[in-house]
Amino acid sequence: MRQDHLISASHLSREDIEAVLDRAADIDADPAAFRQRHAGKVLGLCFFEPSTRTRMSFDSAMKRLGGQTVDMGPVESSSVKKGETLADTVRVVEGYADALVLRHPSEGAATMAAEFVDVPLVNAGDGAGQHPSQTLLDLYTIRENAGLDDLTIGIMGDLKYGRTVHSLAEALTNFDASQHFISPESLRLPRNVRYDLHASGAQVREHTELDEVLPELDVLYVTRIQRERFPDENEYRKVAGQYQIDSETLDAASDDLTIMHPLPRVDEISPDIDDTDHATYFEQAHNGIPVRMALLDILLSQDR
Ligand code: NCD
Repeated sequence: MRQDHLISASHLSREDIEAVLDRAADIDADPAAFRQRHAGKVLGLCFFEPSTRTRMSFDSAMKRLGGQTVDMGPVESSSVKKGETLADTVRVVEGYADALVLRHPSEGAATMAAEFVDVPLVNAGDGAGQHPSQTLLDLYTIRENAGLDDLTIGIMGDLKYGRTVHSLAEALTNFDASQHFISPESLRLPRNVRYDLHASGAQVREHTELDEVLPELDVLYVTRIQRERFPDENEYRKVAGQYQIDSETLDAASDDLTIMHPLPRVDEISPDIDDTDHATYFEQAHNGIPVRMALLDILLSQDR
């Protein structure tokens, strides 16, 4: 990887991505070979927003590499409650750990925090900004199920506030992927992401209806409407419950369609899809382990 930190998927080259995915495949094939790889190292977990998968899979990944973790715990019981700034928190925790994972409600928080620390810092979600480690496990899942080149993917739901969407769309510009974005008008991709996609020459189309494109898709990536990011609850209610899929929706889909979701889901994917061959979201969540092990292995092995 060219950089010490992982802040945005837009900083990742195809080589960076393939290095992580290939290492993850090696780990999947022989996890025992990595069991003591980072014994004695410590990963600091700083989560200023709720998390299940990201926090637990980084924790598990570090331990499976022989390392340990220290966790800031809930914001309510940390010094953040006493008014400590993010810059001070990360400067202190960097002294306790060999790498940091940060999730924060403000867009740009990870970029700012990285300026204050020398250990590698992974952005585990900054508001409606980016979530690049999720993207790496998304790409790993796509590569295993559909392949990353000659790919037609639909990304549906909250494209405005969904940080997993922003990271995934930008990372996919490294591959021969045609990207279809499906959302209500009010939740289209933000202007800056659209600009970046166009600037990189990506093949991009936007739709309001899934039917327009469903039969062509190899992958359908469904996302949750990010209720916590809406400035106004009424605006959320206008779009809540739209863009749900169930087994009937899939009548028009290819038999090989891979359905993904970063999770947690609310009501976007009906449980009647869970037992079909399309459902790949639990496998996707489990891929967080080899992929985050690979990422930590690479970041912790770099000469600094
Ligand atoms: C996502 C997130 O936090 O952005 N969750 C995750 O890390 N898997 C998606 C979401 O919260 O909807």
